[in-house]
Amino acid sequence: MATLGCLGDVCGAIDRLVVGFRRRFALRCGGRSWLGRKEYWDAAYASGRYAQTYEWNQTCEVIWPFVEKLLENRHGSKVLHVGCGNSRLGRKLVDAGFRNVINVDYSSEVIDMMRKQEPELTWWCLDCAEPGALGEDEFDAAIDKGALDSLFEAGSEALRQRGGAMAAEVHRALKTGGKYLIISNGGLGSEVLASLFRKVESEEIEGYTCDLYYKLVTILLCTK
Ligand SMILES: C[S@@+](CC[C@H](N)C(=O)[O-])C[C@H]1O[C@@H](n2cnc3c(N)ncnc32)[C@H](O)[C@@H]1O
Repeated sequence: MATLGCLGDVCGAIDRLVVGFRRRFALRCGGRSWLGRKEYWDAAYASGRYAQTYEWNQTCEVIWPFVEKLLENRHGSKVLHVGCGNSRLGRKLVDAGFRNVINVDYSSEVIDMMRKQEPELTWWCLDCAEPGALGEDEFDAAIDKGALDSLFEAGSEALRQRGGAMAAEVHRALKTGGKYLIISNGGLGSEVLASLFRKVESEEIEGYTCDLYYKLVTILLCTK
């Protein structure tokens, strides 16, 4: 039994090494820069590449305990869902009783798609990296599954700066004490977050086990 446990630890360590190496290699080679472009997202959603629904990094079910811990049954919380895409997270939040959820994405293609699919939910089409776009001291919590990643994974300085701008806008939009939960592929951008937020906590969970890129997912919890 002890031997099996030891073997598991060794395999886990090798997994981490391989995933870390692959991420660093991808970033060195210019990253996945297309993920940082609005035109990419508009074209991808319009072509049906991400179908009617798609979940980046991890499913809503697996990340749900982190969401519950973030919102602690405070059903009146005003929640910002950053870079929502066509994830089911907004629907899951409303079904769980959180009625004040604003789902935001800068792709008008996906916002139009989601308005048709879920007309009773709130959808805003705007760029979260634009100064003042999200307001100030407005939200109790923000949730981001893969949105900040799409800018920080791009590997270019210009897009990393956009990532920094987005983190700063979310920070501005949160109330003091408000929390930003990020479900990230590798926790990229955590230095920028640490410079903005009072506290940044981090832990790793399993991503999609069938996919080497998303095998480990970093959960960041930032407190304003
Ligand atoms: C990797 S996808 C994640 C989608 C969804 N959150 C999920 O978990 O499946 C990134 C999303 O962020 C959106 N996005 C990227 N940069 C953005 C920005 N500056 N403002 C608003 N949305 C943005 C993209 O349009 C895309 O839908």
